[in-house]
Amino acid sequence: MATIAIAGAARGIGFELAKQHLAAGDRVYALARDPGAAGQLNTLAKGSDGQLTVHAMDVADDASVKAGAAATGSGPIDILYNVAGIVGTVEPELESVDWATWDNAFEIMVKGPLRVLQAFLPRLGAGSKVINFSSQLAASTWPYGGFYAYGAAKAAMGRMMRSVAADLKDRGVIVGIIHPGYVQTDMGGPDAEITPQESASGIRKLATEWTLDRSGDFYKWNGEPHAW
Ligand SMILES: NC(=O)c1ccc[n+]([C@@H]2O[C@H](COP(=O)([O-])OP(=O)(O)OC[C@H]3O[C@@H](n4cnc5c(N)ncnc54)[C@H](OP(=O)(O)O)[C@@H]3O)[C@@H](O)[C@H]2O)c1
Repeated sequence: MATIAIAGAARGIGFELAKQHLAAGDRVYALARDPGAAGQLNTLAKGSDGQLTVHAMDVADDASVKAGAAATGSGPIDILYNVAGIVGTVEPELESVDWATWDNAFEIMVKGPLRVLQAFLPRLGAGSKVINFSSQLAASTWPYGGFYAYGAAKAAMGRMMRSVAADLKDRGVIVGIIHPGYVQTDMGGPDAEITPQESASGIRKLATEWTLDRSGDFYKWNGEPHAW
């Protein structure tokens, strides 16, 4: 049995990860911005005999992240998933920019993962994994425009986590950066390429098999390396 913490577990891939880890017999701390609105997560918790508990955590808010992590106790964490994300403005922002959306993107997708990692850091040891959700849109290989704040935030997070990986190597903590696939969630939409089930099961396998010598690397959900 592994102990799992998921920041951004209310919907989408985060919820599916919670579901699959619970089914695999793991202890799951499911962290959600607004637990009262996370209906399917609460239903999962109710039927879990205490194996999955739901805790409030808004990754954009320092106090909420600290309180959310503290609410899960002080025991070791095997896998911490930084899933929370928003897509923001899709269209090119050449003539005008919605800076509030940019600020939100960076709060949630750059500072958020670092806040969450810091809050759980005392509970991460040799062999613990921190899996951070980036995107193919963060890579130099993405051939399209638009998504300025989203792509910039995900690229910044990936670069930052690569540094965090170097800084945590001596402690044996493994830090991963992933593209979860183009997934049929509220964010990806119904025409996306893969289901949340496929994405989460690939990510679970990837997370379980990630080794320290590959800490700080960028992978796709299916285990293939991703270009930076
Ligand atoms: N779907 C794709 O095709 C795709 C592709 C590449 C990368 N990704 C990345 O994969 C991750 C998961 O995406 P998804 O498709 O599952 O998205 P989703 O269905 O839109 O779900 C987003 C999740 O993030 C949570 N969240 C947003 N802001 C938060 C905050 N401030 N604090 C805590 N939780 C917050 C949401 O909670 P609420 O319910 O409270 O809003 C929700 O649980 C994201 O980081 C996304 O950028 C997705």
